[in-house]
Amino acid sequence: MPSRIQLCSVDQVAPGEALRVETSGLTLAVFNVDGQFYVTDDACTHGPGSLSEGCIEGDRVECNFHQGVFCIRTGEVLEPPPMVPVKTYSTVVQNGTVYIEL
Ligand code: FES
Repeated sequence: MPSRIQLCSVDQVAPGEALRVETSGLTLAVFNVDGQFYVTDDACTHGPGSLSEGCIEGDRVECNFHQGVFCIRTGEVLEPPPMVPVKTYSTVVQNGTVYIEL
């Protein structure tokens, strides 16, 4: 059984937005892409950028520091300068609550 960590209510993240959540030693970005929830590490892999504070367009998030772009669904780098994908988490929504499974 994977362990499940509760992050937030679905009501806290409107479509096209993100929420920074700190829990269990992790700092995460919870994204709502057209009603689907995705979770990545909040820290950009390139530097001090916070992806939950980035500019979101569809399933792309642009880092607020040097405008690197990541795919919210997969974590892959879509536009440099980042070279390393951002970590993504298995995300579950149940009874209006967003969880990750580790
Ligand atoms: S810190 Fe995110 S692109 Fe540089």
